[in-house]
Amino acid sequence: MSGKPVVLVTRKLPDAVENRLRQDYEPLLNPHDRLYGADELIDLCKGADAIMPCHTEKLTAGVIGRLPAGVKAIANFSVGVDHVDLAAAAERGIIVTNTPDVLSDATAEIAILCMLGAARRAGEGDALVRAAEWRDWSPAFMVGTQLTGKRLGIVGMGRVGQVVARRARGFDMEVHYHNRRRLDPAHEAGAIFHETLEDLLPVCDFLSLHCPASPENKGLLNAARIALLPGGAIVVNTARGAVIDDNALISALKSGKLFAAGLDVYNDEPDIDPRYRDLTNTFLLPHIGSATRETRDAMGFRALDNLDAIFAGREPRDRVA
Ligand code: DGY
Repeated sequence: MSGKPVVLVTRKLPDAVENRLRQDYEPLLNPHDRLYGADELIDLCKGADAIMPCHTEKLTAGVIGRLPAGVKAIANFSVGVDHVDLAAAAERGIIVTNTPDVLSDATAEIAILCMLGAARRAGEGDALVRAAEWRDWSPAFMVGTQLTGKRLGIVGMGRVGQVVARRARGFDMEVHYHNRRRLDPAHEAGAIFHETLEDLLPVCDFLSLHCPASPENKGLLNAARIALLPGGAIVVNTARGAVIDDNALISALKSGKLFAAGLDVYNDEPDIDPRYRDLTNTFLLPHIGSATRETRDAMGFRALDNLDAIFAGREPRDRVA
């Protein structure tokens, strides 16, 4: 035994991150990137001092309750922590951290991509060209709607929301937002605050969701709220699937109430509601908000910084429980 802390790493991480792990820890790696079930994960934790999981591992109260006593920390390779029962971890004295900041730019890019993809019918166009079914050009062919000059509503003006607002200004969009707290004017940069979601929705040509999937935000975008959006609005979700009521969104996309949706995250990933695939007015991505080389390295290093602090007896920068 090296005497270094043992860390169970649940998924294949970038090489640079795994190299640093090997230097400072005794990592139990997953070179084949297999998705562990709950029992297997608990079993693999025998002898581990910490876990470095992703959002793909559901660390429910039941799982946390069965973790071996040696596990002192859960250093997530993710900013979202809805996959971890934080109260259960706190009760067992397990420190939990996440990786904020480092994925804001990458996720904001995907939000803009979802807006563009949905508004300009990029998925449909790509499929048509690939299937060799593109026959002609005409003024009526593949007509979408543009971002430029439109009103964008942002729900959750945290780190990602603020970057989306900045990028959207490059499209001359008028930015509106709803957040638990109003930002100070320097951070608002002209964005218009709405005290309630109900107040925000009627002014959104585009609605982009950036709130956490906390229990109170589950099904936040429901039928009653979709009804408040202007006809022909576009909905974008790069946060978590749980903040959308799928039945309500799908029925609004089918009826034409909404022009389109651009989605990177879903309920029950990767087994998403199949009706999304059948709709032509959806632009669908497979949860790749943070999937850039730069960001994935940075997420790993940030998780490691948190582990370093924990094992040095310091308060980790990104403690969430
Ligand atoms: C995050 O970090 O929360 C991303 O969604 C990937 O898990």
